[in-house]
Amino acid sequence: MCGIIGYISNEDGGNGRDDEHGGGERADGGPTGGGRALPVLVDGLRNLEYRGYDSAGVALVEDDAVAVHKQQGVIDDLALPDAHPATCGVGHTRWSTHGKPTDANAHPHTDCTGDVAVVHNGIIENYDHLRAELEAAGHAFSSETDTEVVPHLLEAELAARREAATDGGRVDEDGDAGGAESAADGDGEPVDDVGPYRTASTSGGFGDVDVVAAVEAVVDRLEGSYAVAVTVAGREELVVARQDSPLVLGLGDGANFVASDVTAFVEHTREVAYLEDGDVARVTGDAVDVRHDGAWVERDRKTVDWEAEAAEKGGYDHYMLKEIYEQPGALRQTLSGRIDEVAGDVDLDVDLPADVLADVEEIQLVACGTSYHAGLYARRLLEEFADVRVTVEVASEYEFTGGRDPWETLVVAVTQSGETADTLSAMRKAAKAGARTLAVTNTVGSTAAREADDALYIRAGPEIGVAATKTFAAQVTALSLLTVHVGRRRGALSSERASHLLENLRGLPGAVQQLLDASDRLQAVASEYVDEDAYFFVGRQLGSAVALEGALKLKEIAYVHAEGFPSGELKHGTLALVTEDTPVLTVLTEGARPKETLNNVKEVESRGAPVIGFSSYDAAANYLDVEIPIPDLGVLEPLVANVGLQLFAYHVANELGRAIDKPRNLAKSVTVE
Ligand code: G6P
Repeated sequence: MCGIIGYISNEDGGNGRDDEHGGGERADGGPTGGGRALPVLVDGLRNLEYRGYDSAGVALVEDDAVAVHKQQGVIDDLALPDAHPATCGVGHTRWSTHGKPTDANAHPHTDCTGDVAVVHNGIIENYDHLRAELEAAGHAFSSETDTEVVPHLLEAELAARREAATDGGRVDEDGDAGGAESAADGDGEPVDDVGPYRTASTSGGFGDVDVVAAVEAVVDRLEGSYAVAVTVAGREELVVARQDSPLVLGLGDGANFVASDVTAFVEHTREVAYLEDGDVARVTGDAVDVRHDGAWVERDRKTVDWEAEAAEKGGYDHYMLKEIYEQPGALRQTLSGRIDEVAGDVDLDVDLPADVLADVEEIQLVACGTSYHAGLYARRLLEEFADVRVTVEVASEYEFTGGRDPWETLVVAVTQSGETADTLSAMRKAAKAGARTLAVTNTVGSTAAREADDALYIRAGPEIGVAATKTFAAQVTALSLLTVHVGRRRGALSSERASHLLENLRGLPGAVQQLLDASDRLQAVASEYVDEDAYFFVGRQLGSAVALEGALKLKEIAYVHAEGFPSGELKHGTLALVTEDTPVLTVLTEGARPKETLNNVKEVESRGAPVIGFSSYDAAANYLDVEIPIPDLGVLEPLVANVGLQLFAYHVANELGRAIDKPRNLAKSVTVE
């Protein structure tokens, strides 16, 4: 997840352009609606930093160039001029998905001529195909990103349209027709290195070419999800487009904004219009014009009533709740471009070929906390679908022992941050012994990603709340994709069976949304059962992994005693603690042996304990005090149930007035052993 901001004002707007310090500044130091772009973009990026923070950049429109300043690091490290006269520009804060966080990979990305600058949020699934086509046509790329295909496609489109408008004639000074050729210095290299500051226009300008039509033609070729904002040298306009990635217009007085969310500009205007999928809009200081399917359309104007701080949390009271609600979108990103339904296979961007996997006798999953629970879930999937022996170990307990042959062992470090000391230490022990390592992480460029032989990114976007929520779901989802990858390459999984699992994965975001829609119900259940003596979470198989995670969530944020375990273990001890003041939360779904679990439910029910069931098993209804229905989704049903457990924990903690986003004594990333 990345953050986008675009700003454009009338040259005469606000405090005008003659202010020595860049104009447009209020008495309190903040920018006004009118005036120069740079301070507005920088403020907007600071407000968006929670969406991603590994690199940042801005593009400022000049008469015959677009000045780009971008680099790895946080916004405050960005080297910027003290002032800049531009009244139009875009900015971006990045959370890497394609390519490491480096200066070159930071946005904005430019075309060969330096006239077009683009910022992008989302994933362009067919970028490798487009890039190959563009490179064959002579375009020189400067980054490893998927985004960079957009400015190059646009360059070609604008050049073609300019040529058509001039009746095939050449319009720039050296008689070049523009496009890729004009960008290269003869060796196919870009004219200017991409550095923190770039102003290399060689196109001769794109004249009056209709940028909106060109952007429409370009986005038509993109597959995947995108919110893009485009600037072109000499053009006082922003052109934006969205598909499955948020983009909102901020409507000011003599100035307009565009951003990933209103946080970016809420201090300037609360008047907004949300773009819809398929929209392309032209934004100037005076007007906002939206096109959809080739026709001009109106989008409703709304007034948001959030304060800036609330806006950062998207209107939610806590980051944790926001992140719980972000799960459908996060899971779509995890899956994006990775499923090949026709072949019943996946395309994972990891170098684990069939001959390597054929030699693997055992997969060891190492992790801590919530990631360990994701590992427990994945173990069942790998064993069932990839027919391979799997062990899961708490990273701090891990040793590479037991007579294992390193050449026959694949060690998978599951760590959302990629920086957990215990997990890194386990991974290093495995690597030292000679085993192949794979990091499954949310953080491109993290230590785990750098040190492992391969990295599989879960693409959940940054998670601020200390208690992991969306990253757990994304880890299990990414590990499910890995299961298909391993199963298919080892010849253990038929394409039909793989297709069925992939179909369930496709249905996962929608099923999670169904649970989120039941949040009011879970809030009421939490109110009813707040302040009990203890809480037990039970299930079997995949359900027991989720039971452990549900209990951990409640402990972490509500500070109440909670225990999770396989339901079969109730009778071997914990049953002695079960009373009418100890609610038992139960996973009764496919993949969790609901029939056997129900027998254990009967044991606690007969002792008066309230039973809250997350269930797709009809026979259970009579034994449950509360039934939360889980939609049919095969082995992913327990993962959907987990969303209900997250909401339960959240609402209990909220009723108890806990510091939900920063629970006492806990840290988001534990970098000591
Ligand atoms: C900390 C966090 C947990 C997290 C664990 C592992 O304890 O509070 O939420 O599950 O670290 O983190 P990792 O980044 O390795 O997944």
